[in-house]
Amino acid sequence: MQSLVSPSVLYRDSFLKGAAEFLAEGRFDSTYARSLGYDSDSLADQFPQFVRDLKALADETGLRVRYPDRVLWLVHDGDYIGQTSIRPELSTPYLLTYGGHIGYSIRPSRRCRGYGKAILALTLEVSREIGLRRVLVTCDSDNIGSRKIIEHNGGQFESAMAMPSQAFRAEGRKPAPLIEKLRYWIDL
Ligand SMILES: CC(C)(COP(=O)(O)OP(=O)(O)OC[C@H]1O[C@@H](n2cnc3c(N)ncnc32)[C@H](O)[C@@H]1OP(=O)(O)O)[C@@H](O)C(=O)NCCC(=O)NCCS
Repeated sequence: MQSLVSPSVLYRDSFLKGAAEFLAEGRFDSTYARSLGYDSDSLADQFPQFVRDLKALADETGLRVRYPDRVLWLVHDGDYIGQTSIRPELSTPYLLTYGGHIGYSIRPSRRCRGYGKAILALTLEVSREIGLRRVLVTCDSDNIGSRKIIEHNGGQFESAMAMPSQAFRAEGRKPAPLIEKLRYWIDL
């Protein structure tokens, strides 16, 4: 059975394997480990603290938080599959324009099995439960998988926004002139 769970030390071994996969494809950031100050060694050594730091991102009174970000893991029969995050308030210009309310990623070895569609469907349920009524979900114009996931989950296309270099910097990557951010709204 698959479900969204709060980050927990219960999934340590499986999460570390998934994190190694993200690292190998150059997307270690997807796990939030790097932005929280961990590399793969310190992640393994200080896993309980990493879990606490991850959960603290949802706490808007926390000193480290730029904006409240609720991170959940998709697990299937105890196996870590990926993460999703809900930003209930579009409280920065980046989120309002490019980031949106929800972000998700599936670990490389578990892709193309329907988990991407499932993680967004489950994230929409949680978003509804916490009181959101309409969410902005975005993806890069060349991300065919994410585009299909959003459209499958009822995304109504609004616009394509050019990405200035600050927006690429906010995502920790190099500017790519042909990429736009596609903006979709989903009523909950
Ligand atoms: C994008 C991502 C979440 C897709 O996850 P996934 O588990 O492979 O998605 P699904 O299996 O539910 O696939 C959804 C659809 O996209 C298609 N798809 C998935 N990856 C694809 C790819 N790289 N190229 C083309 N199509 C792709 C699937 O075949 C499926 O198509 P269908 O509806 O016709 O059957 C995953 O590749 C990922 O985590 N990428 C890195 C992070 C990222 O891009 N996150 C999204 C940011 S907006």
